[in-house]
Amino acid sequence: MPGVMRTLERIADLRAASREWRASGRTIGFVPTMGALHAGHRSLVEKARAECDVVVASIFVNPLQFGANEDLSRYPRDLAGDQALLAAAGADALFVTTPAEMYPPGFQTCVVPGALAEPLCGASRPGHFRGVLTVVAKLFHLVAPHVAYFGQKDFQQARLLQRMVADLDFDLVLRMLPTLREADGLAMSSRNRYLSATERAQAPALPRALQAVAAAFDAGERSRTALAAIGTAALAREPAFRLDYLEVRDDETLEAPERLGAGGVVAAAAFLGTTRLIDNLLLGAAARRLG
Ligand code: PAJ
Repeated sequence: MPGVMRTLERIADLRAASREWRASGRTIGFVPTMGALHAGHRSLVEKARAECDVVVASIFVNPLQFGANEDLSRYPRDLAGDQALLAAAGADALFVTTPAEMYPPGFQTCVVPGALAEPLCGASRPGHFRGVLTVVAKLFHLVAPHVAYFGQKDFQQARLLQRMVADLDFDLVLRMLPTLREADGLAMSSRNRYLSATERAQAPALPRALQAVAAAFDAGERSRTALAAIGTAALAREPAFRLDYLEVRDDETLEAPERLGAGGVVAAAAFLGTTRLIDNLLLGAAARRLG
């Protein structure tokens, strides 16, 4: 039976709790989120529960990672539902915070990513990853986790965070866990709540297009542009989708060699109406390295 989950709202309370856990020799697992939680988030909490003594989740819709024309103001919020999901998954503590607490007047220091942030979502969402790295760096300092859990769903984000942990000497292990999907293949996402019934029925065309690329890779195709063309053509069969990008890249550096080696990643972002969906698949040897 899961115990009682504490909800903490103040930085000072979170720091005090973290110090106590560390002083008593317990390992801390951490799952940062923006709320509107689903089974994908739950899988990260369950993995933390299995591996760590104390499991901390956070919910913060981080304004620093949203562009001016993005969905910050309409981002779904469901605190009661989130608390129930987290308690059932075995979380010990939830940190729920506000922009005023995280970015008080005078705040001005950010974590600036390097080349990993340039392609893919970084190209479409200027400043997005700077906001992600900055908030996650702050949360890492507050929670002081031994292990932090992220989803492959946001592959570029996870790669950038692994880079930040290495470059800035964060004393923790960052785990990237597989994407949880609906039965029809659609990657679980808080933003799926925006989809109309018609759009929800069209949405699986995105993972199908990525699957077409993975199948071509498995059949021996190694040309990056040929693989991307296969994915773009597959997605075009669902005309409701407006493509942002579909690209094949090196899965470690996110560089764009003309020919891939033993692995790679195919990543895409596309709009259905006003909802922007992202998804990715690891190719070949890269898929076997995850876990
Ligand atoms: P959010 O979109 O809420 O996602 C929180 C974590 O859940 C991320 O690591 C994300 O990759 C993971 N996740 C989302 N959908 C998933 C799925 N279908 N299967 C497995 N994992 C999934 O990502 C963010 O929030 C924010 O950028 C954050 C890191 C919290 C910083 O604000």
